[in-house]
Amino acid sequence: MSDIAATDPAILAEQVAYYRKRAGEYDEWWLRTGRYDHGAELNAAWNADVNEVESALRAWLDVRKPRDAVELACGTGLFTRWVAPRVGHLLALDASPEVQAINRARVDSANVEYALVDLFDWQPQVRYDLVFMSFWLSHVPDDRFDEFWRRVRAALKHGGAAYVIDSGWDMTSTAKNHARPDRAAGVAERKLNDGSEYRIVKVFHEPGGLARRLRALGFASRVVHTPRYFIHGAVELAAC
Ligand SMILES: C[S@@+](CC[C@H](N)C(=O)[O-])C[C@H]1O[C@@H](n2cnc3c(N)ncnc32)[C@H](O)[C@@H]1O
Repeated sequence: MSDIAATDPAILAEQVAYYRKRAGEYDEWWLRTGRYDHGAELNAAWNADVNEVESALRAWLDVRKPRDAVELACGTGLFTRWVAPRVGHLLALDASPEVQAINRARVDSANVEYALVDLFDWQPQVRYDLVFMSFWLSHVPDDRFDEFWRRVRAALKHGGAAYVIDSGWDMTSTAKNHARPDRAAGVAERKLNDGSEYRIVKVFHEPGGLARRLRALGFASRVVHTPRYFIHGAVELAAC
């Protein structure tokens, strides 16, 4: 039996509510504006890491050329805009109609299909060349990690790959008025611009530990850390 405590389902519901309400202010985090503006030096470090992550993804997609892709937790489209032009068809999943509306307007591409899905209930019906997820894995509680990756495995065609982008452990990544998360608990408190407060799941993965956990589930991880803020890279089915 696992010694990892089961996450309170109320936190998973709060996580959905938080992102639905945050939709219109979500991009402030990526663009380092408002409460996410940490000053010129840290913003420059952030933007350098953004550039590394986006360039690596585009280069990987250009070599790999996936035909059928699914994006888990597509959000406002910060990455959908890079994936969509480089795949044949993209199914973009999220639990929030508010973020999907922003995504649709931003990406505006006929090869992207959107569906509202609670990813904790997601049962892939078809297989893909690519399962893409940016800033989603950290919202999967530890006690659901193995089950989540079994679903990713079930969603991949032979020779297919997942691609993961997510947060490294750095307090200057988030808003200046967010409390330091309890890293061991895997839960963080978040605020919106109106001061309302939410609890979300936030599990910070390191490339080494992630690779070990994924190896046990039959994956080979090529995930690396940028100098400061992100982890990113492909996760492939390990050769039998
Ligand atoms: C940190 S955002 C990442 C968005 C986007 N991938 C990006 O890179 O900006 C997390 C996303 O997960 C979505 N989400 C949260 N809980 C979910 C759930 N149970 N099922 C599906 N999507 C969920 C939110 O609506 C939000 O768009």
